[in-house]
Amino acid sequence: MLEASAPGSVFLFGEHAVVYGHPAIVVAIDEKIHVTVAPNKKGVVRVTSVFGSQKIPLGRLRGKPKYVLAAIRKIFELTGKPIGLNIKIKSKLPPASGLGTSSAVTVATLKAASKLLGLSLSKNELVFLAREVEKEIQGRASLAGVSAATLGGILEIRGDRYRELPYRDFDVVIGYSGIPSRTARMIQKVWKLRENNRVIVDTIFEAIGELAEAGAIYLRKGEWLKLGMLMNINHALLGAMRVVHPRVEKMVKVSRDAGAYGAKLTGAGGGGCMIALIKDKKPLKELRRLGFRAFCTKPWGRS
Ligand code: MEV
Repeated sequence: MLEASAPGSVFLFGEHAVVYGHPAIVVAIDEKIHVTVAPNKKGVVRVTSVFGSQKIPLGRLRGKPKYVLAAIRKIFELTGKPIGLNIKIKSKLPPASGLGTSSAVTVATLKAASKLLGLSLSKNELVFLAREVEKEIQGRASLAGVSAATLGGILEIRGDRYRELPYRDFDVVIGYSGIPSRTARMIQKVWKLRENNRVIVDTIFEAIGELAEAGAIYLRKGEWLKLGMLMNINHALLGAMRVVHPRVEKMVKVSRDAGAYGAKLTGAGGGGCMIALIKDKKPLKELRRLGFRAFCTKPWGRS
């Protein structure tokens, strides 16, 4: 049996725009998804998670859970020898919540299954293989979630390149709207908006890219107030693209009113989560008092 884990992630800047090649800053968080893989002799892949247990015959590795099965198919393609597997997934993160859980489960599955089958993959190969899996499921995918899940730390993404930024210790509160949302649907929504308003949406993307560039400088210097202000602007631009759910909007306002440096949607939107950069626990307490599911976390993994 082999076990592997990978962290979830949040965007300080740049979700959606990053899919079109603009810079983004993504942070691996101190919450992981754990995957164990063990061989079986039954000619099936059995996947067990909070959603229950599914048994899929080796000759028909399609359907749900999509990311796990697509990752296993990739490994079988590379090894050329499909075998029966029992896969167990453990996670405390809410699924489909914008916290990079699809990337984390994909990376952890690829890591565990490749090791079990004697396939040696470098971190870079893992990043690009995981991105292939995401593209297969979502149509489009950036390197953000998969590079954070593979390398940890704080990363700058630019098209097909990722770069580790120096580690900084800061606290964020994550608030969950309680509304799951499919990344593929939101990517499609933004794609359509761009098709109908190319110049305007590209201008928004450009501005988001500029925020990521400036954000990287403030992050390096630990200028949290300025960083927070840029996050607020990024959030407004995501709002302009209509991906911010009213419950996320509410959590953002609550966090800012409780003294957060800045707060924004994180991930694809349409529900999901917000992150607030905080100096104390007041935003966390206030979100919880109002009945939101919220927790504090930090960047995970030194780079
Ligand atoms: C989803 O978590 C973030 C998006 O930018 C998609 C991606 O980066 O692949 C919407």
